Amino acid sequence: MAEINDKNLVQPKKIVYSALKPTGDLTLGNYIGALQNMVKMQDEHDCIYMVADMHSLTVDNVPADLRRRTYDFMALFLAVGLDPEKSILAVQSQVPQHAELAWILNCYTQFGEASRMTQFKEKSAKAPENVNVGLFSYPTLMAADILLYQTDLVPIGKDQKQHLELARDIAGRFNTKYSPTFKIPEGVFQKQGAKIYNLLDPTAKMGKTDDNENGVVFLLDDPDTIMRKFKRAVTDCDTSIKYDESKPGISNLITIYSVFTGTPIEKVEQDFAGSSYADFKTKVGEAVVDYLRPIQDKYHELMNNKDYLLEVMKNGAERASRIANKTLSKVYRKVGFVQLP
Ligand code: TYM
Repeated sequence: MAEINDKNLVQPKKIVYSALKPTGDLTLGNYIGALQNMVKMQDEHDCIYMVADMHSLTVDNVPADLRRRTYDFMALFLAVGLDPEKSILAVQSQVPQHAELAWILNCYTQFGEASRMTQFKEKSAKAPENVNVGLFSYPTLMAADILLYQTDLVPIGKDQKQHLELARDIAGRFNTKYSPTFKIPEGVFQKQGAKIYNLLDPTAKMGKTDDNENGVVFLLDDPDTIMRKFKRAVTDCDTSIKYDESKPGISNLITIYSVFTGTPIEKVEQDFAGSSYADFKTKVGEAVVDYLRPIQDKYHELMNNKDYLLEVMKNGAERASRIANKTLSKVYRKVGFVQLP
């Protein structure tokens, strides 16, 4: 919806882009760090949200799993409240302009810059037998995703900040070398929950492919599993339920409880003053189970209707492709490619 400001000028809508990569199943971290903001932003802005299946190939993959997860992610997008009537919902590989722009951006990214990416270093260390070129150029594909749509805002978790910075640098460099071509995007981060931590190792990010799944809560976990994971969450040996960076375990649980019940952190602390850690863990688990129940029900309903999911993907890909083409043909012209009449 357009906003009217003090001077009665209509503010144009901003363009929002974000994507999630279907390696591993979606977690509470993905929901709190990204999806929740993505849902909120739909009402005010023009949003484009994708399943980043091309990024998934950078790690070892079973084709049937990738295919299943692509449907899964689209169904969960819809189940959490992303709406194809308000936003463009699409699958990255179905919009060929992403790969095309990524190639061009590779040629404007320095080897040294890409080598400094923390995620590249971590992932190469984790799987030294598969340090493929795609893993190295992962951030230029991500830059292409964002820059194709003249994106203003990118809702993401903290772990993607460095990739966004690189996208901004590449865009700025291209604009300086040729002429203004790409908008320089800004990241949007949750005030609380830009990084949700593994329940068993509250100093590490909760990730889809963490080795210890018992510390990761998946959006599709059943209630018993969710309760078990929260009850076993690692905390310190203190007893007071207070948010404090030196107590990462309890602070992570407070954040999760606060997000899922819409209760400010100070109020959570007041409400649970005097409660034991064990009682609080049960309450956090229950809050998550209650919040996820309708999302899971909707997900199962949608997974029984693959034709509908395909229709959403097709419609999204067509709409995205039309927008992406405008930027791509501008770029092709600027770099000197001959365009056919
Ligand atoms: P991915 O799939 O790893 O994660 C999807 C989104 O979830 C956020 N996130 C978290 N936030 C808080 N706490 C956590 N523990 C946590 N784990 C994940 C991520 O920051 C992300 O926002 N490369 C991206 C996908 C991508 C993309 C893009 C994102 C491809 N193209 C363009 C934005 C714009 C990725 O692998 O995210």
